[in-house]
Amino acid sequence: AVMAEQEARFRASVADRGTVSDQPRRTRERRPAGAGFANTTDSDPAVASSRDWAMTALEAAPRELTSPELTSIAQVDDVVTRARRAGATWAGLPAAERAAVLRTAADAIEARRGDLLTQMAHEGGKTVAEADPEVSEAVDFARYYADSALELEALSGAEGLAFTPTGLVLVTPPWNFPVAIPAGGVLAALAAGSPAIIKPAPAVPGCTEVIVEAIHAALVDHGYDRDVLGVVRVAEDEVGRHLVAHPQVETVILTGAWETARMFTQWRADHDGGPGVFAETSGKNALIVTPSADYDLAVADVVRSAFGHAGQKCSAASLVILVGSVAGSERFRRHLIDAVASMRVGWPEELGTTMGPIIEPAQGKLLDALTRLEPGETWMVQPRQLDPSGRLWSPGVKEGVWPGSPFHLTEYFGPVLGVMTARTLDEAIELANAVPYGLTGGLHSLDEDEIARWESRIEVGNGYVNRHTTGAIVRRQSFGGWKRSTVGPGAKAGGPNYVAQLGSWIQEHRPE
Ligand code: SER
Repeated sequence: AVMAEQEARFRASVADRGTVSDQPRRTRERRPAGAGFANTTDSDPAVASSRDWAMTALEAAPRELTSPELTSIAQVDDVVTRARRAGATWAGLPAAERAAVLRTAADAIEARRGDLLTQMAHEGGKTVAEADPEVSEAVDFARYYADSALELEALSGAEGLAFTPTGLVLVTPPWNFPVAIPAGGVLAALAAGSPAIIKPAPAVPGCTEVIVEAIHAALVDHGYDRDVLGVVRVAEDEVGRHLVAHPQVETVILTGAWETARMFTQWRADHDGGPGVFAETSGKNALIVTPSADYDLAVADVVRSAFGHAGQKCSAASLVILVGSVAGSERFRRHLIDAVASMRVGWPEELGTTMGPIIEPAQGKLLDALTRLEPGETWMVQPRQLDPSGRLWSPGVKEGVWPGSPFHLTEYFGPVLGVMTARTLDEAIELANAVPYGLTGGLHSLDEDEIARWESRIEVGNGYVNRHTTGAIVRRQSFGGWKRSTVGPGAKAGGPNYVAQLGSWIQEHRPE
């Protein structure tokens, strides 16, 4: 009865989406079930006005950078010294005061939504559909970590525990989430009572600047020194290494490759109190589809998980594992091919683009994955380079990916999906768990027993049932991984303990 009810619920939720074959063809565009850009019509004033607003953001010119690139060790040391000085006052504030600043920062980030969209499109190649929720995520982080600061203080009072913030936190974010991830890192540090420094990812410094301006505005608004948040735009050379290894940087929050986290840990090996590297790292994520699944929903989620931001998310599904009869299903196959083929690849300045460019011309292992097949593999949908820049590729799907092959085990970070098959769900889970990482995973199934089995065995930080694998929501789906997807204490971003791990706890001495 539970299953029937659940199935009815899912059927109802997808009933109005239509499918490729039964949807009226109002335009020449073929729209996959549930995937792609919202169904905009000129007759809906709310949709039309938000579209106008998005167009304005996309047409605006990118900003002139204001933060200079720092090229000397003395300049880096100066930012560190100023942040630490401002941090002394910050650490002594009541949590309610810090929380109030974070709430103002949330409003200030919201007020810069248009600027952030402009910057993410120009620097990061992000479509509005990808960039807009990222701004919301940054706002959510600010409000959630404000609450965390208050909870931390309440816990200290109630349990007789004293919390001491870690001290200066360096945040080194990636280029693929150039707004939410840097914002989340520094806001968590500020919530804990620590000063912070951001080292922007070299491809997207303007995105970081807008975020920093918003947080600075909040600090100044409440009468605090903006130096509590510093920016060090620095090349990845010996000056960058000096910053990462800096003896007065207590904690480094990194989002990037597992290899980078290992390198940072080595650079900081001699640091007093240990390396203090907290990293969310790589992923090779699989979405499993069983014969009980709603195929329309599964296809929409596979496409969204694999090709959102051109597959350049640590959370992206890079493998889809088809169980039993799904592997031979002509319906599933046709829907997947149609859905992939109907994506509109282009530059983000074009509002109708559903998949934007990759961050730099395809090269190395990604170029191999887009252009070569291993023995046994064939193209279900062959990717094509669409322009001379080397950055625009149509999405690709290869099938016949063998257990243990390079495609099974390697993270590519681009618009190419591999299809594997398994006789049983258990076999599929084994294939998904065989990778060295454990970040996200998905299951499409309407069978409660299958769902329970998958949930108890899958080795991922974020597992999603009948949902895409990307776009974790702050507070509801805190984000982080297992295995080689995390380094350090491992509390998940946007969830309990994330702020609490940025400091140490001691039992207060209470004389009898
Ligand atoms: N939090 C992002 C997601 O869930 C990845 O960093 O997609």
